Amino acid sequence: MEHTEREAWRATLGYWLACGWEFRSGSRLEFDASPPRARVGQRGVGVSVTPTLPIPAIASPGHGPVEVDVNRAIPKPPSLPPVVASELPWPAPVPGSERPALLAAMATDVAGCSRCSLAHTRTRTVFGVGNPNARVVFVGEGPGAEEDAQGEPFVGAAGKLLDQMVRAIGLQRADVYIANVVKCRPPGNRNPQAEEVAACQEYLFRQLAIIRPQILFCLGKFAILCLTGHADAVGKARGRPFSWRGIPVIASFHPAYYLRTPLRKRAAWEDLLRLMKQLRALESQGAENHAETPPPV
Ligand code: URA
Repeated sequence: MEHTEREAWRATLGYWLACGWEFRSGSRLEFDASPPRARVGQRGVGVSVTPTLPIPAIASPGHGPVEVDVNRAIPKPPSLPPVVASELPWPAPVPGSERPALLAAMATDVAGCSRCSLAHTRTRTVFGVGNPNARVVFVGEGPGAEEDAQGEPFVGAAGKLLDQMVRAIGLQRADVYIANVVKCRPPGNRNPQAEEVAACQEYLFRQLAIIRPQILFCLGKFAILCLTGHADAVGKARGRPFSWRGIPVIASFHPAYYLRTPLRKRAAWEDLLRLMKQLRALESQGAENHAETPPPV
């Protein structure tokens, strides 16, 4: 075998080995239509692999060789907690008058929760807040420092922005319900880990089963992942028609994202318009009795 051919095989083999986890996790490999960047996709999501070695085997005429740094660690895919929503029994609708007491009892349970290691580092659990008969539930990721101290979701800087978003659609914070995927603060505001999400998401599902909102509004990738199973970038989830147990789900960025990139705030407005449109459509269908009617599963 010639030297260049041997090099090419070595690089190709290194590339596949480096990508091994992608195949083990059952996802597919995609190549960008315009090399030289090769893309490894999890459920169609592109994760770029930085080039250094040529792989003539997948180079196409006019585009030059695709190159891959086989020594570079492949970024880990976003962890996928098991989506167990559909395994939960969908209980009979709870009369609106009983919801506050049921949620309060659940909050007491959650306050003593030790299902995952976040119990050791939290100050307070952050259960959820708002109208137990809300038409809209906003779902965030997990408490930050302010929320951990006060025991209420979205009271810090991102919360101020969320309040503005809620007011922009003509509602007040007390009209909607606000909850998180995880009820305890991940130390240092790191992302919640798969096992933490897996341990905690049932609380969110039970909250939603009690409230039975008409629409769920996901704030950021963890809420989207938890309620739709969509593990791709938030930008790719926006505008797509998801539902959780028959309840429409709107996928949107986390308010903290707009604090970091204020020029993207237009996206928030677009998603809020989607929300208003769906709420109006439900109103015109006479769906105001959502509180008692189980959505189609
Ligand atoms: N970010 C969240 O996702 N939730 C909160 O409660 C606060 C900040």
